[in-house]
Formats: sequence, structure tokens, C-alpha cells
Amino acid sequence: SIIPVITIDGPTASGKGTVAHRVADQLGFHYLDSGALYRLTALSALRRGTDLADEHALAKLAEHLQCSFQGGDIILSHENVTEAIRAEAVGNAASKIATFHAVRHALLGLQLGFRKAPGLVADGRDMGSVIFPHAALKVFLTASVAARAERRYKQLIAKGISANMDDLLKDLQARDERDTNRAVAPLVPPQGALVLDTSEINAEQAVAQVLAWYAAAK
Ligand code: C5P
Repeated sequence: SIIPVITIDGPTASGKGTVAHRVADQLGFHYLDSGALYRLTALSALRRGTDLADEHALAKLAEHLQCSFQGGDIILSHENVTEAIRAEAVGNAASKIATFHAVRHALLGLQLGFRKAPGLVADGRDMGSVIFPHAALKVFLTASVAARAERRYKQLIAKGISANMDDLLKDLQARDERDTNRAVAPLVPPQGALVLDTSEINAEQAVAQVLAWYAAAK
């Protein structure tokens, strides 16, 4: 009755979303984008005008999140918010509310529920350290700030959104700072994680490495 879990943690724009999603596809596993849960909570708070410093109110929102994942689409209270939660403002708000213990705790059960047969690939910041500490394979995906800023830049331009490289660099550094130095669930490689630096390799190569590690770990 052991349902295997592969955790992929790492900083913003390290490529973990793409890699985790593709690894899940290859193995026929379920996929958890845990960052989306923080983004959904943030979006919900922004829309309701909830004070982003009100830990208790935010935890309540997180606990009662009416969300579902349908194919590639993310639904919040019957609305397709797949695009809306990717906005920079939502990411920033997500990173702020993610510092609250009560918010993290409120999202715990929801995350554990994604573990279903035949297996799960979970991506985020604390998948291997807090949520699935007994994962079959823990990966910590990193890349230089420059490489990540360049990727984010290309993504935005491809979407027709104008972007400024200096702003992106500053934004990534600020987000890293906050995620790494927070008291609750800081972004650090979890115990037993294999570190994969993707600065010089593409998504395909990263996926191949994770699959090879998983085959060896099984
Ligand atoms: O990965 P993504 O950029 O979508 O995550 C948005 C924010 O949610 C991150 O900046 C981080 O602060 C927070 N987060 C977290 N723990 C996770 C996933 C995301 O704290 N497991």
C-alpha cells in the first residue's frame, strides 16, 4: 500500500513546474502544483480584500478553498483562474501569505490528498521536507538567478507580456530572500535530496535525470 511520491522543490523559475509535470506524465503519476494552492489562496484574498497580514482570516480562506484541477485547468469557485493565478501580483501575495504557519497548516490536508495510486509527483518549496518527508525520491532543482530571470523573460515575451530584465532579476532575488529566510518552512534542500542545477541543461535533460534517479531509487 506504499504509493510512491517524487518531490521536486526549488526556487521560483527553476523549471520545477515543467520538469515535475513531464515526469508525472512519463510515469502516469498524479501531479501536485503546491504553489498553485498558495496562489489560489492569495487570489481569493486579493479579490475579497482580505488583509494580507491577517493570518487567521487567510488561514480560513485557505481551509475553505473551493478549487479543483481539471486537466491543465485550475478552477476556483467555478471560475477558470489558470491564467489569473500566474500574475506577478498574485505570486508576490502568495509568497507573503506563505510565511504564515496557520496558512501552511490549513493547506496540509489538501496536499496530502493528492497522493493517489499509482503515484504522485509534487512540486513546491517544502514537499520533501514537510509534506512528504518519506518520499521515494527527493529532488532539489536550482539554477542561477541569471538563468532563471532569462527563462522568466522568455516566457513573458512569448505570452506577449512586456518585461524588463533588471526588474525580473530584482524580483527573483527578493522572492528568493523571502522564501529562504522565513521562519516557517524555509526553502532549503530537504534531507536526502539530490540537487540538480539546471542553469546549463534544458527541461528534457532535467526530466531524463529525474527519471534515471527514480529508476535507481525504486
Ligand atoms: O511555485 P510558485 O511560484 O507558484 O509559488 C508561489 C509562492 O508560494 C512561492 O513564492 C512561495 O512563497 C509559496 N510556496 C510555498 N510552499 C510551497 C509552494 C509555494 O511557500 N510548497
